[in-house]
Amino acid sequence: MRIPLVAGNWKMFMTVAEGRHFVSELVPGLEAISTVERVLCPPFTALMAVRALLEGTSIELGAQDVHWEASGAYTGEVSPLMVLELCSHVIIGHSERRTYFWETDEIVNRKVRAALHHGLIPIVCVGETLMEHETGRTSEVVTRQLKVGLAELGLGAPSLEDEALAQGEGNSLVIAYEPVWAIGTGQPATGEGANEVIAEIIRPTLAEMYGEQLAQQVRVLYGGSVNAGNAAEFFSQPEIDGALVGGASLKVDEFVSIAQAAAR
Ligand code: PGA
Repeated sequence: MRIPLVAGNWKMFMTVAEGRHFVSELVPGLEAISTVERVLCPPFTALMAVRALLEGTSIELGAQDVHWEASGAYTGEVSPLMVLELCSHVIIGHSERRTYFWETDEIVNRKVRAALHHGLIPIVCVGETLMEHETGRTSEVVTRQLKVGLAELGLGAPSLEDEALAQGEGNSLVIAYEPVWAIGTGQPATGEGANEVIAEIIRPTLAEMYGEQLAQQVRVLYGGSVNAGNAAEFFSQPEIDGALVGGASLKVDEFVSIAQAAAR
């Protein structure tokens, strides 16, 4: 049984003051949905303030990016140790970072390995562009993103026979399937289409890399224009374990409704 997970990616929205106001309105409704894991991912600058407001709730906190080194002369970057002081999760390899900040699969891999090494739970984003989608390259692209981005994580080791340990391993990593053409466009994939990519590409690739057991335990989210109106369509699919929500995570009612849909 995979526990549903709904994460809100605020992107570059919300000042500290706005974030405080928003979270204080969000918490009562969101806290009630305890059967769903709920993660808020504000900008770095708002993490401290949001963390203070989430104290004593079961809502978790994530960052939107992380550097791979623990410390060093990397002006402007934030290390996994710094993120870990405030957060349990971190989004890695979002398509906006791949597109606008030239993040390669190799960089994604460094970040994922660093996050896992320090005990952060990476939410690793994969997905094809519109052109790749239209030219039938989804499988090739998503497989490459997984094989390179998730290389050498040291998961699914055959020696890990202890069930409890193995279960913990499956929870140490989250994948988000986010077709680039569906992000912020108001044109989501269909539930069936996203389910098919996860069933036929993502889980088999994970199984090939880290074994069937891990592939079945890892939560795979859908992301791309998820809102209160379409969330149920995605969550009714057997392979979709939740959502990574952008725009709709900035609206209290929408985000609470999405989390409620995941609880059903
Ligand atoms: P969207 O963004 O929900 O606004 O499409 C999703 C994401 O970028 O994670």
